[in-house]
Amino acid sequence: MRVQWSLFLLGAFCWTIVDNMSSPPADQDHLQKEEQDWRTWAIGRLWEERERIGHTPLIKYPVRGLPFLQLYLKDESATPTRSLKHRFAWALALWSVVEGLVTRNSSTYESSSGNTAAAEAYMYSAIGIPFYAVVSRNLEQAKIDNILGNNGQLIKTDDSTRGQLAKETAARTGGFYVDQHGNAEKAEDFTESGGYGHESGNVFHEVLAQLRDDPEIPRKAVDYFVHCAGTGGTITSVGRYVDRYNLPTKVVLVDTEFSVYYDYVLKNGHKIETSPTPSTPPGVPGVGYPAEAAPAIFGNTTSLASAVIDEVMKIPDIATAAGFREFHARGLRGGPSSAMNMLGALEIALKNAKSRREISIVTLLNDPAEFYQNDYFNDTWINTAFADCGGLKALDCWRRVIASTLDRGTPFIENGMKDCKSN
Ligand SMILES: Cc1ncc(COP(=O)(O)O)c(C=O)c1O
Ligand SMILES: *[C@@H]1O[C@H](CO)[C@@H](O)[C@H](O)[C@H]1NC(C)=O
Ligand SMILES: *[C@@H]1O[C@H](CO)[C@@H](O)[C@H](O)[C@H]1NC(C)=O
Ligand SMILES: *[C@@H]1O[C@H](CO)[C@@H](O)[C@H](O)[C@H]1NC(C)=O
Repeated sequence: MRVQWSLFLLGAFCWTIVDNMSSPPADQDHLQKEEQDWRTWAIGRLWEERERIGHTPLIKYPVRGLPFLQLYLKDESATPTRSLKHRFAWALALWSVVEGLVTRNSSTYESSSGNTAAAEAYMYSAIGIPFYAVVSRNLEQAKIDNILGNNGQLIKTDDSTRGQLAKETAARTGGFYVDQHGNAEKAEDFTESGGYGHESGNVFHEVLAQLRDDPEIPRKAVDYFVHCAGTGGTITSVGRYVDRYNLPTKVVLVDTEFSVYYDYVLKNGHKIETSPTPSTPPGVPGVGYPAEAAPAIFGNTTSLASAVIDEVMKIPDIATAAGFREFHARGLRGGPSSAMNMLGALEIALKNAKSRREISIVTLLNDPAEFYQNDYFNDTWINTAFADCGGLKALDCWRRVIASTLDRGTPFIENGMKDCKSN
């Protein structure tokens, strides 16, 4: 009885609402239809871009000094805007349209160290949406050209105020602040969307498919995935994928010298308050979380989910700069953060060297070396930027240490710390 009575009430209630609702005017109907058509078109257009990305190359990189290591480098610089951010901007753009945050008449804003801005400029202009990048005054010229060349517009400011300015400008103009740091973890794929011709954009899903499909690779399992974090979005998407499917892969975060991420992960992603130790420039472009920035809060100022990270390590920034030059001399064309990934992978391999058991490690080439012509390839810049730790002389010492690791499997961080001190 009672059930019937409440059903009756519900029916009456709904009826009242429908009765009281005035039907929308015809032009509003028309506008809604146009918006819906635009949305359908934009989402279809973005899936075309997913196909254009295809599968970026998976490079096998044998290391003479570490013969038990199978090292695979996923070359994310082989995308139209030349960085790992292409895949990521695709996910953000699709998410923002699906969630109704970006509509036909939106403008978009982002704070970026350059690569995200170029990729978002590309994705939003593909769907006819204006894009404004808020970037540092010191941004590399090659990255500026990449943003402008992909129809982005530039707003330059101090590095420390980028995020605030992007947020305020978006609010003032009624635009959408894409906010890669807060939103990467909401937008990035960590599941396999699979069939119907719509393959997931998850980078690790792609790696596993490539290993599976290559008859020359007998061992399909990946023991370690090693990667750095800027927003943390990429490594989080991989960590979630690995955990969701119970894969036997350890996810290792490599952190920069002055970043708070190392402590953040060890403290289980608890809010890390501004550190009393300010970071010392230059850091590593695109990665790390500066101690002097706002507290690192998951889903707000960072997308790094510490729960899916198994190990974390730090690499000295000068070693990264040295690795960049040494790997480049050996034909690897990645930028500084890619070098840091490589060094992280070598360090993991060295830790496993005693067992002599075969191990496979996957890491990413994040962006191309050409972006760093004016700074990391420039001796004058190196001498100034790394003056405190011995400049070019110390960098060359680290290069020899890294070369020896590659050729003879000698320890890298220990030897560098011992032999390459300034003075
Ligand atoms: C060159 C480079 N490497 C690595 C990263 C880090 O990627 P994520 O933001 O997904 O952590 C970035 C991010 O901007 C980058 O520009
Ligand atoms: C949105 O953009 C379309 C096409 O660019 C234009 O015709 C329309 O007037 C705009 N609507 C609003 C509400 O600004
Ligand atoms: C994000 O952090 C800022 C400052 O740290 C705070 O003002 C804001 O309310 C936070 N937003 C959310 C959604 O947590
Ligand atoms: C090299 O770096 C110095 C110091 O930062 C700078 O003044 C100079 O313009 C740079 N040279 C090139 C070719 O980028």
